[in-house]
Amino acid sequence: MIEIVRFDHVSQAVAELGPQIDILQSLFGFQAGERFESEDGYLGVHLAMPGVSDLGWEVLAPSSPTSTLHKFLEGPTGPGLHHLTIRVRDTRQAAAALRAEGAQPWAGGPVLEGEEPDVIYIHPRSGGHGFLFQLYEGEPWHTMPPVPDDDPNTLGIKALNHISHAYSSCDELGDWYERLFGMETIHRSVGDGSDTGFRTRVLEHRTRQLRIENIEPASGASFIQRFLERRGPGMHHATFEVHDWLRAVNACARHNIPIFGERSDETDGVPWREAFIHPRHTGGVLVQFFWQAEEGAWI
Ligand SMILES: [Fe+2]
Repeated sequence: MIEIVRFDHVSQAVAELGPQIDILQSLFGFQAGERFESEDGYLGVHLAMPGVSDLGWEVLAPSSPTSTLHKFLEGPTGPGLHHLTIRVRDTRQAAAALRAEGAQPWAGGPVLEGEEPDVIYIHPRSGGHGFLFQLYEGEPWHTMPPVPDDDPNTLGIKALNHISHAYSSCDELGDWYERLFGMETIHRSVGDGSDTGFRTRVLEHRTRQLRIENIEPASGASFIQRFLERRGPGMHHATFEVHDWLRAVNACARHNIPIFGERSDETDGVPWREAFIHPRHTGGVLVQFFWQAEEGAWI
């Protein structure tokens, strides 16, 4: 099992940095830090988010027409969530845990045993179940404090609740998260029970910074099945908890961002509400946000 210290940041890749930073600041209440440029053709910005998750959010864009990022942006999974970065105790230990899972640790090429650099990857097609994970050891990268967020025109984010990983089988994927990352399954759901729906399994790590949801199609007629056929396995959406429902809905209206799939219900008498923002407004990420009157009502 990989010894995780903290989840560090979520990374998103888009064609152009400017408009994405604008929406993340004006609607989501994030705050941009320094811009950086990598040698391999990436421009990036680290952002801090409001709330309790203590996670960074990174936006990447290509710095030149020959950037390798174009392959992702023009491929079936781009633009959108690009990778999840995790601070580990020791990349050598993490690489050994990956090899024990039959996966090849990656760092621009296969990582040789005993020659692990301080940053290694779980490749989407070599162990990552369709998603890229970046693992690093050493001093924390994300060091920006959470953003104070009292602007009434932002969503009012309390936490990044989860990112949702679509895959053909929650049993297989969830067992992998348990074995490799030491996460614990805290919830399972069968959705609405219809063929067009989905089943989920929700996992949490002891850092309790964010959850990872596994989502599988209920049948071949499910919209998750269509997602898997079109894009392959990978991250399907990101879900934020907000402090105040009306503030969040009004903020979307104020920025001319439509919402859909609005639902309100209650669990054991405790009300909750949820809605979605289409990926076309968020740099390729389907965003779900919810409000609950008490912790644990919405899951
Ligand atoms: Fe979800």
